[in-house]
Amino acid sequence: MRVIVTRGAGPLGLDFRGAARRSLVVIASPARRPTPAEFEAGLGVALVERRRMPAAALDPAAKTGNYLNNALALHEARLAGADDAVMLNERGELAEATTANVYLVRDGILLTPAVEAGILKGTTRTRILHLCGRHGVPVREATLRPADLAAADEAFVSSSVRGILPVVVVDGRPVGAGRPGPLTRRIHRWFEDAADEEAARASHPRPA
Ligand SMILES: Cc1ncc(COP(=O)(O)O)c(C=O)c1O
Repeated sequence: MRVIVTRGAGPLGLDFRGAARRSLVVIASPARRPTPAEFEAGLGVALVERRRMPAAALDPAAKTGNYLNNALALHEARLAGADDAVMLNERGELAEATTANVYLVRDGILLTPAVEAGILKGTTRTRILHLCGRHGVPVREATLRPADLAAADEAFVSSSVRGILPVVVVDGRPVGAGRPGPLTRRIHRWFEDAADEEAARASHPRPA
């Protein structure tokens, strides 16, 4: 489900105080999770020139309908033959993919850019960090750079639409062994099992 709240329609111009009635739009469509074959194939990403916008301009932590920054990054990645873009912040640190959070695995530790890198604190990210805590996987929210991605044993992205998808290629070079890594597979399984349990609970609520 996508829920959009807008200031509503109003006269042409940027002053939204002119909008008379707020609008609430709810779009419901079946979610299509990546197939097992798509998971195995993984994603090729490009580190694009286009930077994630700084919080002082428009905070990436806010989930807004303004996706022009991300759309331009995706376009750049597609022109480079990649499936998605990994965007850097204005300091050249890893931020996030165009509609997903980014993770690396190095020496058995899960690393992901901290919120201070200028990212959306995705709901799937929160779940992944929680699941790793529960299963004893060390996690660090850290300042990461392109060299960290290049040197990673594994990498993946996460979002509520796509779940967890391995990143197997960065700028045409394989990440680790160039296929979904073992920790990525474990986290994916924990995540999907937790989602299935939640769906089962929602369809069979316990009597009050
Ligand atoms: C820029 C950006 N980062 C990360 C995410 C992942 O967030 P979530 O896990 O809540 O879907 C999204 C999702 O749309 C996004 O647009």
